[in-house]
Parts: sequence; structure tokens; C-alpha cells
Amino acid sequence: MKILVTGGAGFIGSNFVRHILREHPGYKVINLDKLTYAGNLENLKEVEKNPNYTFVQGDILDGKLISTLLDGTHPAANNQPPTAIINFAAESHVDRSIEDPASFVKTNVLGTQVLLDCAKKGTVDRFIQVSTDEVYGSLGATGYFTEETPLAPNSPYSASKTGADLLVRAYHETFGFPSLITRCSNNYGPYHFPEKLIPLIITNALEGKPLPVYGDGQNVRDWLHVEDHCRAIDAVLHKGMTGEVYNIGGNNEWKNIDIVNLICDLLDERPKVLGQPQGTAPTRSLIKFVKDRPGHDRRYAIDSSKIKKELAWSPRYTFEEGLKETVDWYMSNREWWHRIKSGEYKEYYERNYLRR
Ligand code: NAD
Ligand code: TYD
Repeated sequence: MKILVTGGAGFIGSNFVRHILREHPGYKVINLDKLTYAGNLENLKEVEKNPNYTFVQGDILDGKLISTLLDGTHPAANNQPPTAIINFAAESHVDRSIEDPASFVKTNVLGTQVLLDCAKKGTVDRFIQVSTDEVYGSLGATGYFTEETPLAPNSPYSASKTGADLLVRAYHETFGFPSLITRCSNNYGPYHFPEKLIPLIITNALEGKPLPVYGDGQNVRDWLHVEDHCRAIDAVLHKGMTGEVYNIGGNNEWKNIDIVNLICDLLDERPKVLGQPQGTAPTRSLIKFVKDRPGHDRRYAIDSSKIKKELAWSPRYTFEEGLKETVDWYMSNREWWHRIKSGEYKEYYERNYLRR
């Protein structure tokens, strides 16, 4: 199989590219990525020399480029058009979507429509839209999102992802286009960009900086290891029914403050395990409650019984081992996040956090 992966230089996309090349040695992958602030070719060092992997820098809004990749005439396609597309490319951070909704509409909505339009003319027989549980909005203290839950997004990010999902659905209904949608809960794991909660807390703590917790810290997220998300997309690619939506979750709900405390305690304990120098004060003393995010969704929780039953998927990681492994990864890959945190990201951080 030849797959066009978009956004493969980001967090989940790069984990997926490594996953697919490792698990399916005969498959070929073209990774189309614009390399925005969140795209990083360092994430793909392990596969850059793999003969089955090709990188193309480009925008999903560039219909001409995509058409040449899909008809095989682009040199990267080598006269062999991809038959599957997995669309990870997106602006992905809720806080940035509050600052600049337009870039989210451009990439997430228009970009998806351009991809769909190009793909429906070619030989693609599978298009997976990588979406999010955030399209369902927010839950109260009980209940779960199922695939039938009405879409009710609250942030510009989730609204733009919802717009894309509705276009994907419409192309299936109107043109019989072979699309599928996955909606996953919050991911964590290696190569997670340090603007998101878990890597932000780990890396700030390692630098002795304040650990910002929004509002009262009681918001709940359902965390899934990125490799388990990749395994779910792999299952949908091979066994999913076109026209269907699959929810993916970890059945692993945590209040933000509890997860931040847990990371602090792990950081106090891991240096001993890894033989690294240890700070003196307990890491929890760095926690700082800051102004809440506007429109902050209170709780997400996913019912993933459909993908479990129909595609025989279930998560393999326990949160305990996954989080320990993730903390260790950030402790052993300081150069990776140091480089990010000293670049463009620094300005964003100052803008977003100094006013809270
Ligand atoms: P990310 O921000 O780490 O990566 C996004 C990638 O897309 C980057 O490499 C970026 O360069 C690329 N990109 C952005 N705009 C582009 C454009 N116009 N053309 C081509 N490439 C472009 O995001 P992520 O966390 O890896 O998320 C990947 C996908 O999964 C997104 O669609 C997101 O909505 C979805 N998702 C994320 C989570 C999560 O917890 N991170 C959960 C569920 C779903
Ligand atoms: P985030 O990782 O941005 O993912 P999402 O908003 O898409 O779920 O945030 C996860 C949760 O952590 C969310 O409730 C907001 C909260 N949060 C903080 O408390 N402090 C922070 O600095 C960040 C980035 C997030």
C-alpha cells in the first residue's frame, strides 16, 4: 500500500509514520507537511533514510501540488499514486485558536476541502480524517461521547475540526467518496509539542519554571498514549467501513490538577531511578493557578465500544507505564525540546502566559 500522510512532521503524524513503516515493512509513505511551528523533521530522523519514506514540504491548501502527488506525476510519487490518504495536517492548539481563528479555518476546513476535491478525482480508495472528541463539545459530571452524540464544538479549534468532519461526511454522502472519520481523546507520549499540557508541565518543571494550571484545575480529559492512537488508525485503515465514524479513547479520565500533581511526583522520583541530579524543593511547589481559558470545556470522556467491538482494537499502554516512559523521554531528550522552547515558541509562551 502507498499512503499519503499529511501533517506527518507533527506529534501524532510522526509517531504514525514511524508506526506504519515499522509494522508494515512493504508499505510506502509520502509525508506532506508544511512545517509550521509545530512541524519538525527531527521527529522523523529515525526513518529519513528508509527507502519506503519520502518527505514533501507543502501545504494541504495547494491543490496543484496535491493533484500531482495523487496522479503520480510528482517525483516523490514516482509514477505510483497513493491509494490511501490520512489527514493529520491541522492547526491543533485550542489556545492559539482563540488568538487567531482564521488560520484554523484555512488549514482545518479549507485545507481538508482541497484534499477531498483532489482525492475524489484520483485513485484513492480510503481517506481517513483524523478528528477529535472536542467536536462533541463538553460533558457534565457523567456520561460519555458516542458516535451519535450531536456535534457542539465550543472553541474555534473544535469548530474548525467539526467543519472538516462535516465536509468529509458530505463528500461521502454526495459523491460516494470512500472516507472515514476517527475522533480521538487527548494524546500523550514522545515528540508532543511542549505547548500542550503534559509536555508543558514536564519541561517547565525540568527548567524550574512555574507550572500553569488553568482555572480551578478540575477540568477532566481522557488521556491515551499516542502509540495506541496510531494502532487504532492502523485498524481503521485496514478494517474500517467507509462512511463510518470511530471514537477512540483511553477510558482514562484525569482532572488536570491530579495529572499535574502526578507528573510532579514522578519528576521527584525519576532522577533517582535514572541516576540524574535531583532538585531540592518538591516539584509541586512550582504549581501556579492562572486565569482560565475562555470557553474552557469542562469534561471529555469517550465511549470507544464501537471500535473495540467492530475492529478489535483496545489500548495496550497503562497510563502508569505510559506516563513514566514519557517523563523519561523528556528527561533524555532535552535538546529536542530546548531547541523548540528557545525558538518562535518563546514569543507565543510569553504572549499567552504573561497576561494570565
Ligand atoms: P501538531 O500540531 O503536532 O501537528 C500538526 C502538523 O500539521 C504539523 O507537522 C504541521 O506542520 C502540519 N500542518 C499544519 N498546517 C498544515 C498545512 N496547511 N499543510 C500541511 N501541513 C500542515 O498536531 P497533532 O497533535 O499531531 O495532531 C494531529 C491531528 O490529530 C490533528 O488533526 C488534530 O486535530 C488531531 N488530534 C489531536 C489530538 C491530540 O491530543 N494532540 C487528539 C485528537 C485528534
Ligand atoms: P491541552 O493540552 O491544550 O489540550 P486540550 O485543550 O485540547 O484538551 O490542555 C489539556 C487541559 O489542560 C485543558 O483542560 C487545558 C489545561 N491546561 C492547563 O491547565 N494549563 C496549560 O498550560 C495548558 C496548555 C493546558
